[in-house]
Amino acid sequence: MSMLSWDDVIEQKAAETPEPPRGQPSVAQAQGLETVQIGAARIQVDDKQIINCRADLNQLVPFKYKWAWDKYITACANHWMPNEINMTADVALWKSIDGLTDDERMIIKRNLGFFATADSLVANNLVLAVYRHITNPECRQYLLRQAFEEALHTHSYQHIIQSLGLDEAEVFNMYREIPSVATKATWALQYTQSLSDPTFQTGTRKDDQRLLRDLIAFYVVFEGIFFYVGFTQILSMGRRNKMTGTAEQLQYILRDESMHLNFGIDVINQIKFENPHLWTPEFQQETIAMIREGVDLEYQYAVDTMPRGILGMNAGMFRDYLQFIANRRLAQIGLNEQYPGATNPFPWMSEMMDLKKEKNFFETRVIEYQTGGALNWDE
Ligand SMILES: [Fe+2]
Ligand SMILES: [Fe+2]
Repeated sequence: MSMLSWDDVIEQKAAETPEPPRGQPSVAQAQGLETVQIGAARIQVDDKQIINCRADLNQLVPFKYKWAWDKYITACANHWMPNEINMTADVALWKSIDGLTDDERMIIKRNLGFFATADSLVANNLVLAVYRHITNPECRQYLLRQAFEEALHTHSYQHIIQSLGLDEAEVFNMYREIPSVATKATWALQYTQSLSDPTFQTGTRKDDQRLLRDLIAFYVVFEGIFFYVGFTQILSMGRRNKMTGTAEQLQYILRDESMHLNFGIDVINQIKFENPHLWTPEFQQETIAMIREGVDLEYQYAVDTMPRGILGMNAGMFRDYLQFIANRRLAQIGLNEQYPGATNPFPWMSEMMDLKKEKNFFETRVIEYQTGGALNWDE
């Protein structure tokens, strides 16, 4: 048997790989797992595409989407850990007999129930559905950072649940047992399940629209609308000096989430820009309907978690607030606002996102990063 040369191996491999139809990269290309081609041409900026890219995905530079790299750098600069936040005051308040009303306790437990599993759904969608089909290395770099942040968020909820001594199984099962928590998770799952077939590939109008629909469902509706009643309820408690550790955890999470949302909007707009044929009038109408449905479901969640007014807030104010943020989300992806005249009853929420880590951490941090010490190579 004669020895094959390297060139023969590459040629043979190329002959075995069927030519993908026009507009569709091979599965290996789309995932960045294609066979290494020795001496292939270097990547040029114009070779890069956000979806359906045929160029090598393992070359981070030259950057085409500077906004994605900038968000990655900013996210790293905002690093935090849930166990750095002091939970002592929350534990004392939760265990005191009359520190909190029954309504306040229900709000905390329901929100922990929703959030404790919501971040896993987001992470699974990112890693198992979205990452495979976003064919750009600088965007993937941010997706990897986001995936880690979603792990930190789940860690944060677990840390709160454990600190307060809540029944962990009860909280982690709420998305399967409490209707108002289950509805939102079920709504989002259909979009990621639509991509879960391992043979699913982008490259046709219908399949590219499936990906775009999933991105809108998760970034705009799930992370951009479904988190906001819970965030507002808990942060409002923190402003009244109740459950301040829990509120601080959520403040860090909110800052991360507002970056996830903004990244998602940039990705959606870039896909639209490079693939205008996807943004048909029908698809736009469908997107508007999805966002309106998201507002209705989140409003129902506000009613279910807050049957009576509490902390100077009531469900009606949340209707206004959700319509206000939905108008902003719609405008950000180039659609008409659907709720004329909606106003923001919680203007303090935007200040919550501008949290400066240094200012807060000097007052509250309880541990040092273990990476602070020097490496010792002699051991
Ligand atoms: Fe998250
Ligand atoms: Fe997120």
